[in-house]
Amino acid sequence: MIGRIVGTGSYIPQYCMDNNDIAKLVETSDEWIRERTGVARRHIISGEETTVSMASVAGKRALENAGIEPEEVDLILVSTISSNVILPCAACEVQKEIGAVNATCFDLNAACTGFILAYNTAAAYIAAGVYKTALIIGSESLSNLTNWNDRGTCILFGDGAGAAVLAAQPEASETSETTDKPEASENDTSKLFIPVTHSNGAGGEALSLKSRHDANGLTKEVDKEETFDEAHYMQMDGRAVFKFAVKKVPEVIEETLQLNKLKKENIACYILHQANRRIIESVAKRLDEPLEKFPMNLEEYGNTSSASIPILLDEWNRQGKLKSGSKIVLAGFGAGLTWGASVISV
Ligand code: ACO
Repeated sequence: MIGRIVGTGSYIPQYCMDNNDIAKLVETSDEWIRERTGVARRHIISGEETTVSMASVAGKRALENAGIEPEEVDLILVSTISSNVILPCAACEVQKEIGAVNATCFDLNAACTGFILAYNTAAAYIAAGVYKTALIIGSESLSNLTNWNDRGTCILFGDGAGAAVLAAQPEASETSETTDKPEASENDTSKLFIPVTHSNGAGGEALSLKSRHDANGLTKEVDKEETFDEAHYMQMDGRAVFKFAVKKVPEVIEETLQLNKLKKENIACYILHQANRRIIESVAKRLDEPLEKFPMNLEEYGNTSSASIPILLDEWNRQGKLKSGSKIVLAGFGAGLTWGASVISV
């Protein structure tokens, strides 16, 4: 069986900070931020909004979009680095909220590569015949982890959630009468594609955040009002992360295409983690692909870590741009360091 994406959803907080709002907090300007990153605005949680509440709404919307009842879901995976809960996990909280009583639930932390790994995990379970229907969610409240006095990072990040439903469908070879596996044609999308993922723990210092403990060693719930020392906010060597991304993302995409015997002309578009417009432009150039094949929404949302890929996927789906029968590359990179790419067919 293969897990095919049959529905998507997202949730974006209403409260919005533009670059001029950021310029009131740190020494920067709208012009600098737009030119160096492509970001103009970011949405930030307020009131009762949390990582779990955003994940639940995005998940519900994805199920509605798929026409699947919560009881039919076998697996819920939430990718997050910024959950408002540690125990129980965010996925169990989502389960409770949406009534997916038959699902197995767990969280996954791989920063901005998290949604790729959640997709791969769900797809592998489905391919192994363990589960039939999976709800995968990326949800982040990065505003709680951002040092609003650090202009090197606070210009970049935003909050939000995106979700996708994967449902088991027969692979091309399973529908064949013969036992010989047929050669997949270029337009055949009923095929299991092998993902490529990498990690380099030795490079982890480029993007880090120490956990927050009180005097008794207990982790505290993330709270915007409280102040911590710098190590307890996201710390980043921006130049190092930039260099890593522009080298490794095109490499892992090429590796994925080669492994799956796909040509670039077979790929309808590349949905990349939305970190920085210049990174995406550089990846397009290195792959020798037109920038039009790289949809972007980072101008509106900034970098929402593991939520950025499913939010963009949902936007494209709802605009009717995920054309049936097409192949799409998802690619992410981030803290760890981690990076990877997967081919999905819609
Ligand atoms: N406003 C104005 N000036 C600034 C700002 C700012 N917000 N930030 C830095 N500067 C200054 C610096 O002090 C420096 O000044 P100097 O030359 O006098 O020393 C100058 O601008 C250039 O600084 P750089 O750090 O070299 O700027 P760069 O062009 O690299 O842009 C940025 C910085 C936007 C952070 C970039 O490095 C970047 O996007 N890196 C990748 C970050 C990323 O994608 N991280 C997320 C990874 S995914 C995840 O897991 C969360």
